[in-house]
Amino acid sequence: MRRRIQAASTIPFNLFLVIVSVAILHRVGSLNSVSAVCEFSFLDGKKIYNFSLASPLPNFPHGVLSEDGFYKVGANKTVLWFQLCSGMIFNHDPPTCVDCLDCGGPSRCGMECSALVANNVKGYDVCTTVGRVSTTTASVMDSQNPHKGVVIKMSSAGAKNLCSFSVSVICDTEVKGPHSLQKVGDCDYAAVLMHPSGCGTIIYVHGKGWGWFGTLMVV
Ligand SMILES: *[C@@H]1O[C@H](CO)[C@@H](O)[C@H](O)[C@H]1NC(C)=O
Ligand SMILES: *[C@@H]1O[C@H](CO)[C@@H](O)[C@H](O)[C@H]1NC(C)=O
Repeated sequence: MRRRIQAASTIPFNLFLVIVSVAILHRVGSLNSVSAVCEFSFLDGKKIYNFSLASPLPNFPHGVLSEDGFYKVGANKTVLWFQLCSGMIFNHDPPTCVDCLDCGGPSRCGMECSALVANNVKGYDVCTTVGRVSTTTASVMDSQNPHKGVVIKMSSAGAKNLCSFSVSVICDTEVKGPHSLQKVGDCDYAAVLMHPSGCGTIIYVHGKGWGWFGTLMVV
C-alpha cells in the first residue's frame, strides 16, 4: 500500500520535470531561429528584462526595424546600409557599387544580406557584405544596467575575411540616428542608434517564496 502511494506521487513529479525540461528546450531552440533573433530575456538577479526589438510600439509598428526596409549611415568616405533583425529591402535608392556578389548582385544589390558597406577605392564604390540575419546576435549593452540598451551584432564570412557590424541600440524615448559610424577593425564596423525598442521591459520581479520555480514559469 505504502509503495503504491509513493509510486503514485513519484511518477507525476518525474513527468512534471520532463514537461518543464521540454518547455525549456523548446524555448532555447526557438531563440536560435531567425525570427527570434531580436527577442531575448536577460536575468538580472532579481528581475527579468524582456527585449523584443521587432515587436510593435505605439509609434513604431515594426519596432526597431526601419520602415523603409533599410537604415543608412555614413562617415568619412564609407557608407553602410543595414536592417535590424531582418534582411534589407530596397524600394528606392538601392546601393550602387562595384561587386555586390554575395548580397544580391548588381540587379538586387543589398537584398540578400542585412548589412552592406561601400568603401571608395580609387574612385569606385566597392561593396562588402558585413552582416547576415543568420549570424545576428543580440545582448544587453551593460549587464550592470540592462535598461541602457542592446547591442545587435551581425557578421559575414567573405572570400577574404570575416566582417562584422555592431549596432548599439540605446534606450531613448525617440529615434536618433543611426550615427557615429566607426571602423573598429579590418572589416569591422560599429554604429549607434537611439530607439525606444532598446528599452527592455521588466516582466518578472522575484517575489518571496517563488524561487527558481517562479523564474522558470516566465522564462
Ligand atoms: C516579451 O514581449 C513580447 C512583446 O512585447 C511578448 O510577445 C513576449 O511574450 C514577451 N516575452 C515574455 C517571456 O514575456
Ligand atoms: C572616420 O574617421 C574617424 C576619425 O578619424 C574614425 O574614428 C572613424 O572610425 C572613421 N569611420 C569610418 C567608417 O571610417
